[in-house]
Amino acid sequence: MKHLLFLGLLALAGATQAQQRTAFAPGQPWPDNKGTHLNAHGGGVLYDQGRYYLYGEHKIAGPKGNSAQVGVHCYSSKDLYNWQDEGIAFAVAPEGSGSEVEKGCVLERPKVVYNKQTGKYVMWFHLELKGKGYEAARTAVAVSDKATGPYQYVRSYRPGAGQWPLGFKEEWKQPVPGEKDLKWWTPAWYKAVAEGSFIRRDFEPGQMARDMTVYVDDDGKAYHIASSEDNLTLHVAELTPDYQGFTGKWNTIAPAGHNEAPALCKKDGKYYLITSGCTGWDPNAARSFVSSSIWGPWQPLANPATGPQANTTFNSQSTYILPVAGKKDAFIFMADRWTPKNPIDGGYIWLPLTFDGFQPRLTWADKWDLSMFDQPKNGTKTAQ
Ligand code: DGJ
Repeated sequence: MKHLLFLGLLALAGATQAQQRTAFAPGQPWPDNKGTHLNAHGGGVLYDQGRYYLYGEHKIAGPKGNSAQVGVHCYSSKDLYNWQDEGIAFAVAPEGSGSEVEKGCVLERPKVVYNKQTGKYVMWFHLELKGKGYEAARTAVAVSDKATGPYQYVRSYRPGAGQWPLGFKEEWKQPVPGEKDLKWWTPAWYKAVAEGSFIRRDFEPGQMARDMTVYVDDDGKAYHIASSEDNLTLHVAELTPDYQGFTGKWNTIAPAGHNEAPALCKKDGKYYLITSGCTGWDPNAARSFVSSSIWGPWQPLANPATGPQANTTFNSQSTYILPVAGKKDAFIFMADRWTPKNPIDGGYIWLPLTFDGFQPRLTWADKWDLSMFDQPKNGTKTAQ
């Protein structure tokens, strides 16, 4: 009997050991502590009291899999390689409940931030109402007393209702006859977009908000960055001190630049933004921007991805830039490899984000670990 127990313990230890990962393997299945591929797509990471928390869309198999059937899945980790399943942090409301977040809605790109003033964990996500495709274009907030949840739904928003962005000229506040009929992508249309044709259209209900992220700055102020104006222009908006609403201060980024999937980081006082173009679930070439202020002006830079498959960002789309705790200038670019036919299979591309001067760089690595950030001048080195 004793012998059997010993063998059993040995087998258990072996299994535990087998699942200990010591490196990232971008694009490979990524098992959690139970051996199940992580289910946290369009995700973001919160570092809180010595632990990382990963939040993302819980997808299911099959054609319904990209609509929210379950909610937001949470995992936690000490080392970023090994993730413990913490379950569903935010659950969709029951079908037929009439709630904005009822089962079957679209709930994408959840991001969680911690508010020191209120002691609450605040989750934001892109919300589309059930049965309405992507027309609602709302952003929504839920809160919890614990990082792992459960998060309670607060409300959704169209940001910037009744507020003009910074630097919006007086003469742009009136509708321009014929602006709605301008042919897209013509010089006249670009000018009209830059001078607020879509902003005027959505001034009263509030601006559209689709792909989004939330960023907390060093001074504790938080910002919501989302694809707006029919995905043509990104909007950056300041959150209220409790991070649960908007102050009304906002600005545009790259008008008519057609950017999605915003991910932000700050290095040496400069803000860096990585985005994608807009091609649905298909990957495209990433873009990058730098600015000295979150309010802009944002200077466009090059595609940060280099080498083979740079034109599809290694077959992925950005979701978050994760600063590694305790390491200076150590950033992980997190992206999704979408599999829309069977969304649960979606893969994760995590790569070190390095810098050549101001230019963010991504270089493919089949396998890499955090020690690459300890190499001298990691800014110019690539992963092995
Ligand atoms: C691309 C976005 O980045 C995703 O989050 C999702 O909204 C898809 N488009 C839907 O086609």
